[in-house]
Amino acid sequence: MSLQIETDVPLRALNTFGVDVMARRLVRVRSARDVRLVVDHPELGRAPKFILGGGSNLLLTRDVDPVVVKVEISGLRVLEDDARSTLIEVGAGEPWHGVVEWALDQGHAGLENLARIPGTAGAAPVQNIGAYGLELSDRLESVDVVDFVTGRSATLPAAHCRLGYRDSVFKRELAGKSVITSIRLRLPKPWTPVTGYADVERWLQRQNLTDPSPREVFDAVCAIRRSKLPDPATVGNVGSFFKNPVVNRTIRNEILEEHPDIVSYPLEDGTYKLAAAWMIAACGWKGQSLGRAGVHEQQALVLVNRGGANGADILNLAQAVQDSVEQKFGLRLEPEPVIV
Ligand code: EPU
Repeated sequence: MSLQIETDVPLRALNTFGVDVMARRLVRVRSARDVRLVVDHPELGRAPKFILGGGSNLLLTRDVDPVVVKVEISGLRVLEDDARSTLIEVGAGEPWHGVVEWALDQGHAGLENLARIPGTAGAAPVQNIGAYGLELSDRLESVDVVDFVTGRSATLPAAHCRLGYRDSVFKRELAGKSVITSIRLRLPKPWTPVTGYADVERWLQRQNLTDPSPREVFDAVCAIRRSKLPDPATVGNVGSFFKNPVVNRTIRNEILEEHPDIVSYPLEDGTYKLAAAWMIAACGWKGQSLGRAGVHEQQALVLVNRGGANGADILNLAQAVQDSVEQKFGLRLEPEPVIV
């Protein structure tokens, strides 16, 4: 089958902020072979490319000139299952939450803390998704990619993906250079719940669940996310818009002197993660709007489309928030989504 090149495609339904821009050209790839067809294509082969998954970690500020490669590769299967772990392989186009649910339904626990994260499996390693004490890097075994220049396939072990806090090689050197076609996840046995995160602990305690099952942890995470984070199906958003800043002990102590209530978490390497949501709320932004964009009422780290916002509206608000936080705390927050 040859590739279908769609032209002047509205992207509004393909990004969870719901920003109304166009792609000049868009191709849908349903297999690694389709990606190679793109590479070998006389027109598309050399053109700059933009990879689109679920569009849930993306702020579009203008029409997209590069060829949009929409990844729709499906597939869910168990590759290995023994006494020590289960290895599953997932097509990059699978919706992430569906992967978590499927694994749980099959009796393969270990992803439940990452329930209800929007986006596709292929996008998960790009920003090393994480929530409630678990990061993809804790479960990722390897990633299959196809190189956009040579068309060659390769398997990158997780250790080569340079996964960091909302960061990876795919946001850096490999951005636009290769496309993720599938990922492999290793779920260790025996399963042990990850319940150290305050919100999860509190929720389980309230239900008197001292020895929770995977399903109960899953339900807890789903309930917490539903109560705090807006559903992109009804309110345009991309989850957290900023990263939590990581600072050394001296800076943390300086900030703490002036703002004794600030929420911060010690990291293993002696640095501290500061709660950006707390700082944004302390600047009075929680629930506020600027034009057609706003700061979410329940989670100040989330910017929302109040209706008809374009990229500039959202960027204006983001900059105003960054300015306020910088004035009050002396730190400039770093945006988390990819901005195009
Ligand atoms: N807080 C406030 N005001 C708020 C929200 C939170 O003061 O409006 C304080 C809370 O007191 C809490 C602290 O900030 O102690 C942290 O809040 P929360 O647990 O909601 O997590 P977060 O640090 O704001 C991060 C991730 C989320 C992830 C949650 C849970 C980033 C950028 N965000 O948010 O990920 O779901 O932890 O693990 O690290 C995403 O990346 O899109 C995302 C939603």
